[in-house]
Amino acid sequence: MAQNDSQDRVFIFDTTLRDGEQSPGATMTHNEKLEIASLLDEMGVDVIEAGFPIASEGDFNAVSEISKRSVNSTICGLARANFKDIDRAWEAVKHAKSPRIHTFIGTSPLHRAIPNLTMDEMAERIHQTVTHARNLCDNVQWSPMDATRTEHDYLCRVVEIAIKAGATTINIPDTVGYTYPMESAKIIRMLLERVPGADEIIFATHCHNDLGMATANSLAAVEAGARQIECTINGLGERAGNTALEEVVMALRVRNDILPFRTGIDTTKIMHLSRRVSTVSGFVVQPNKAIVGKNAFLHESGIHQDGVLKNVETFEIMRPEDIGLTAKNIVMGKHSGRAALRSKLKELGFDLADNQLNDVFVRFKALADRKKEVYDEDLVALVADEQTNDAYDTLVLKKLRVISGTDGPQEADMILTIDGVDHHIDATGDGPVDAAFNCVKQLWPHQARLQVYQVHAVTQGTDAQATVSVRLEEEGRIVTGTSADTDTIVASVKAYINGLNRLVVRRTKSAPGDDLKSVSYTDAP
Ligand code: KIV
Ligand code: ZN
Repeated sequence: MAQNDSQDRVFIFDTTLRDGEQSPGATMTHNEKLEIASLLDEMGVDVIEAGFPIASEGDFNAVSEISKRSVNSTICGLARANFKDIDRAWEAVKHAKSPRIHTFIGTSPLHRAIPNLTMDEMAERIHQTVTHARNLCDNVQWSPMDATRTEHDYLCRVVEIAIKAGATTINIPDTVGYTYPMESAKIIRMLLERVPGADEIIFATHCHNDLGMATANSLAAVEAGARQIECTINGLGERAGNTALEEVVMALRVRNDILPFRTGIDTTKIMHLSRRVSTVSGFVVQPNKAIVGKNAFLHESGIHQDGVLKNVETFEIMRPEDIGLTAKNIVMGKHSGRAALRSKLKELGFDLADNQLNDVFVRFKALADRKKEVYDEDLVALVADEQTNDAYDTLVLKKLRVISGTDGPQEADMILTIDGVDHHIDATGDGPVDAAFNCVKQLWPHQARLQVYQVHAVTQGTDAQATVSVRLEEEGRIVTGTSADTDTIVASVKAYINGLNRLVVRRTKSAPGDDLKSVSYTDAP
C-alpha cells in the first residue's frame, strides 16, 4: 500500500537548524544554515524552525535570510514566553511567504520552579504571550516544555488557554526523552478528548531520544491524533538527539499499511541532506544508523548477499534509491562468495572473464582476511592492480615509527616507497601526526592543502580501529583520502598518502578547478 492523497497528511517540522544546532559542537556557519534550509525546503519539509532569533545576532540574521529565501516551507522562529523574544522572532520570520512564531514555556513542576511562577501566574503568562504572538502573526505554535512530565490536569488547562489565545499548533515536547510510546499516545488522546477547541488546531509531537524511543514515541503520537512531527536530520540534537526525520518519514512510508498517513517529503533527497548535515555539523552518522547509516543497506553475510541478489526484498524493506542512494551497497567481506564479487565488480564497471575472476577472487580473499570490509575502492585498486601490474599507488607507506609524549617536539621516522623505490627520512612536528606528515611532505613535495582531517573510532575501547579521512585540495582539484588502522597515526599517514595518490591520478584526468565547480554547493548560495 502506498501513501495517497486521500490519507491524512502528517506535517514535517524540521528543527535541525534550531534544536539540532543547539547540540554542543554542532554549530553551523551562516552560509551552511542557508544551504541546509534551502535543501529542506526543496525536500518538501512543511515547517523549518530556522533558529532562535533572540539568542544571537547570528541566529537572527540566519532566520531573516532563510525567511527571505524560503520557497515552499513555512519558516518558524523560536521565542521564550516574553514579548521581547516574540518581537525579535517576528522581526526575523516576517519576511517569509509563510511565517510562524513558536513560543514556549516549561510547564512541569521542575520547570515552573525556575521562574518561580505559581500555576496561576504561569497560566496568565501563557495567555498574554500567545495573544501577543497572535497579534503579530496568524500562525502561532505554542509548546509546554517538558509536557510529558507535567501534571495532566494542568497540561489540559494550559493547552486550553493557549488555544483560546490563538495558538494554531500545540506542540507536546518530550523534552528529556522520558516518555514511551503508549504514554505518548495517551497524552495526545487525552488532550483531544478533554480540551475544548482541540479539534480545531494541529497537535505536534516533539521527542528527544534519551531512551532511544523518539521515533516510536512520535509515531505513537501520530496514531493518537498528532499531525505534526518535529524532527531533525540524522536525529541531530542535544544529548541523544531528537527524532530523526529520515526514520519517521520512512516508517510512515514503509509501514503505510498500519500507519495510513502521507507526508510531503521527497524521500530521494534524504541521503544528500544527511551527508550535508553530517559534514557541516561535524557530527558523524554512526554506521548502523537506521536509514542513513553507512551499513543501512549493506549485506555482508553470504546468505544475505545471495538472497539479495536473487530477490532484493528478502533482506531489504525499502530500496536504497528511495532515499537517494543509487549504487547497491553490498559490502564485501571474507564471507562473500564468487557470485557477490562478480556482481559487485560488474556494478563497478568490470566485466571479467571466468579465469580473470578466479585470479581476482583469490586476491580478494587474501585482502578480506586482513580487512573486515572490502570497499569499492579496494576492489577497483585490486582489479586495476591485477590488470596493469601495480600501476595504482605511487606512494606506499613501508615503515613508520613515532616518538610521542609530553615533551615535544615529537618525532617520526619513515620509509616511504615512491614509484617502487624506498626513501628514508625523519622529521619533527607539533605532535606525532604532524611529524609524520612532515616526513611525507619532505619526501614528496607538493602544494596540496589539507582542508579536513577527521579521526573516528570505529568501535569503543582503546584497541578500536581509527578511521581517518583527509580532504586535500590542489589547484581546485579536491580528493578525499581514507584509511583505517588500529594505530591512529598509521591510519592518518595512510589516509594522507591515499589522498596524495588520488591527486596523482586526478592530475592526469582533470583540469584545475573542475572539482571546485562540481562542489559549488558548499559555497555561499
Ligand atoms: O525539547 C523541547 O522542549 C524544546 C522546546 C523548545 C520545544 O525544544
Ligand atoms: Zn527539543
